[in-house]
Amino acid sequence: MTVKLFRSRIFTPVSDPFAADIATSYRIFDDGFLAVEDGRIAGVGDWNDRPAVGEVIDLGRHKLISPGFFDTHLHAPQLEMIGSYGGDLLQWLNRYTFPTEAKFAERGHAEMVARVFFDELLRNGTLCALIFSTIHFEATDVFFAEAERRGFRGIIGKNMMDRNAPEFLLEDPRTSYEQSRELLRKWHNRGLLRYAITPRFAPTSTPELLRFAGDLKREFPDAYVHTHISENRNEVLWVQQLFPEAEYADVYDDYGLLDEKSVLAHGVYLSSEELDLLSQRKSRIAHCPNSNLFLGSGLFPLFRTLKAGVIVGLGSDIGAGTTPSMLNAMADAYKVQQVQGVSLSPFQLWYLATLGGARALSLDHETGSIEAGKSADFLVLDLHATPLISMRSDRASSLEDLLAGLIFMGDDRVVSEAWIAGRQVSKR
Ligand code: GUN
Ligand code: ZN
Repeated sequence: MTVKLFRSRIFTPVSDPFAADIATSYRIFDDGFLAVEDGRIAGVGDWNDRPAVGEVIDLGRHKLISPGFFDTHLHAPQLEMIGSYGGDLLQWLNRYTFPTEAKFAERGHAEMVARVFFDELLRNGTLCALIFSTIHFEATDVFFAEAERRGFRGIIGKNMMDRNAPEFLLEDPRTSYEQSRELLRKWHNRGLLRYAITPRFAPTSTPELLRFAGDLKREFPDAYVHTHISENRNEVLWVQQLFPEAEYADVYDDYGLLDEKSVLAHGVYLSSEELDLLSQRKSRIAHCPNSNLFLGSGLFPLFRTLKAGVIVGLGSDIGAGTTPSMLNAMADAYKVQQVQGVSLSPFQLWYLATLGGARALSLDHETGSIEAGKSADFLVLDLHATPLISMRSDRASSLEDLLAGLIFMGDDRVVSEAWIAGRQVSKR
């Protein structure tokens, strides 16, 4: 295998800027090399310290190499209903979401959406994502197959749902278990793909369905669990009526669904006891600021959650979120903290969307930063993507300020190239 030597400015988080000094949490090489061999990062450093041999790819002076983005929560089947406005979560689900998801009973529809879906993620620099499918077996198989075809690093799951939704989206809990199990056996740990056991949320699950989901988790302990929790006040009240014996997080815990491979979307209204439980179980929260604003769900208490010891990733939550861009997720995360009186640093935001996302998905040993030995997953960002971004980048007063410009003004246009495991998966 030949070595590829990319020459560019290179930026990467290397540790958690919420836990320690921000200044030591990243590396920057103004004129750097990234050596890629056999799909992995063979080395990274100053251009003067590059290896003696290799095919040089000089990216020029206006590019920035960054780790790829991680979207820790989104719904592939909801791509076509982005911006369905009016109403809060529960109204939105009934009015728009369930009818849209019903279309995935048809394989051809799933194939069409899957193609557009992975195009969009890659164009936006999302190189790894935790993805909800619908309840449909075939559609879920289609999403996995399309992810594999693109060389995408994906964690996907068939939605499990057996109450409180229209008849056409309900399944028998045993069938749900059996179909999930078959998909898990086919796709989990196949190449870059992983399976997530995916009960939609407590309100659409009977105790029997949750028991089956827990059985599956016990059978396949390294599978992920992906669901929603405490997104909206009415939802939390509803869960109290449906499961009066426990708090929301206890419902999942009672069925053995909480461990370090569990990713719960939102967590806006968790009690201190629930946060302590999630921390003990090492379960993760996917913070989806764009969605929380769009649905009017509420303001995520990031620092309260981190202080409790819960690991947090960022999610787009398409289709309640209105864009697949993780740059936008960073920008909205910033604004959600701003209105609560805290200003996040661009380094903290970039961490949440890259290495922090990898950590939330338990993949940080393999990807999430540009460090020797990891998979060669990275983006080439264009600091001159538009006339305005060009002006902003050229006048940035510091690295932090340069990242801020990309976060608040950037979108898919700044993502010039995307590489996963040393293979180019997207190019503008
Ligand atoms: N809670 C249960 N289902 C959903 C969904 O599809 N989107 C969001 N944002 N929240 C949910
Ligand atoms: Zn969601």
